[in-house]
Amino acid sequence: MGYFGSDHEVKFDTRIFPEKGISEQEVMARLEEFGSMDVDEVSGHSIVYGTQLMNHTDAARISKVANMMFVKKNMLYKELMPGTERMTLEMKRMIQEMLGFPDDSRVRLTSGGSESLYCAVNAALQWCRQERPKIKSPEIVAPYTIHAAFSKWCHFTGIRLKRVPIGPDRRADVEAMRKAVTPDTFLITGSAPCWPYGLYDDLESLAAMAQERGIWMHVDACLGGFLAPFTEKAGQPLPRWDFRIPGVRSISADLHKYGFSCKPLSCIVYRNKEWEQYHEYAPADWPDGPYTTESILGSTTAGPIASAWSVMKFLGEEGYTALARRCLEVKRRYAEGINAIEGCRCMETDLTPMVYSVPEGMDMFAVIGGLFERKAYCLPSFQPPMIKIIIDPVTDEVVDRYVGALREVIPLVRQGAITIESVKPYI
Ligand SMILES: Cc1ncc(COP(=O)(O)O)c(C=O)c1O
Repeated sequence: MGYFGSDHEVKFDTRIFPEKGISEQEVMARLEEFGSMDVDEVSGHSIVYGTQLMNHTDAARISKVANMMFVKKNMLYKELMPGTERMTLEMKRMIQEMLGFPDDSRVRLTSGGSESLYCAVNAALQWCRQERPKIKSPEIVAPYTIHAAFSKWCHFTGIRLKRVPIGPDRRADVEAMRKAVTPDTFLITGSAPCWPYGLYDDLESLAAMAQERGIWMHVDACLGGFLAPFTEKAGQPLPRWDFRIPGVRSISADLHKYGFSCKPLSCIVYRNKEWEQYHEYAPADWPDGPYTTESILGSTTAGPIASAWSVMKFLGEEGYTALARRCLEVKRRYAEGINAIEGCRCMETDLTPMVYSVPEGMDMFAVIGGLFERKAYCLPSFQPPMIKIIIDPVTDEVVDRYVGALREVIPLVRQGAITIESVKPYI
């Protein structure tokens, strides 16, 4: 099932696993063919990469080469790879320095935002089992906007997730969340910022509530974690979201978003060892001794770690700040262009993504279809119907092509010259 909710199935009439291997040239040609079926890049940028650097930048090339250099190494056997281990420890230290986290915070690497959130729920649950054994039906209280990965993990594990309606400002309704907390609540969470609207929840109030009630507080900074500190350095103040807030026990932040590493890579950071202990589980009830892993997954590749290490070293604070500044300029340019189109309105967001509404009554998917036909890729947002653009540090050319396409598409949808059919090839 894809992001747009579609499901593709291919019927294979013949066997496709070859009896005898095919040549390297044939393999590569077929791969090229698969790649060329995907959506195009616009001036070296593709939405499919999601918060990635444009191909032409040196950092993007270095990130990819580093990934390939280490991709065959399995992090399960890090004792046998002291060099890779050293690189990983340096990378974890750089995470603390980049995010301004305390020295005694504990960084754990994961395969992405979702896994980081699974780890957060799991650590809180293990803590709850140990420290709140009377809780028999553990439940999480979260704003409606919290990422879907929470629902997924709760579905897998039978934990109850209470998604509380948000306030009129589309941020967590703190009072409503307070009312939703019961003696069974073991975890409170909020976003920095949330994926649907790019808004920060009032994390100081949520954490104060969690602390008052003796509940675990997790901040989902998967999206903004690696962008926020540099956005502030670039001169744009943001709400507090990190361990400066008392009561926050864990924070997730994705390296494969604004850390600009190759995918898949994220981290969950615990305030200190006291909370990190609940992350760890090394089963030994099998013939092969303790099975100790970094997070939830077993075998993982060192490629993205090498990629993150390289980009961090190559860009440094100056480079990340310049990219954050560029993101601010890109957002401003999109907003100016989009707001100048009759009936289109950008919603104020704190950081990224940006979202805008199309003229009232207009079919959002027809607009998206028309944009896609013009290689202006974006995502749908459903409640309310809006179009979402992920803010990447792209060139003016990328922004102007997008806005130009939108300017062209809106009247065509109004006239009925573009309909929902335009989006069908993509779903
Ligand atoms: C706020 C937030 N949390 C979690 C995630 C999940 O991250 P991933 O797609 O890396 O699993 C995302 C993804 O966009 C996100 O925006």
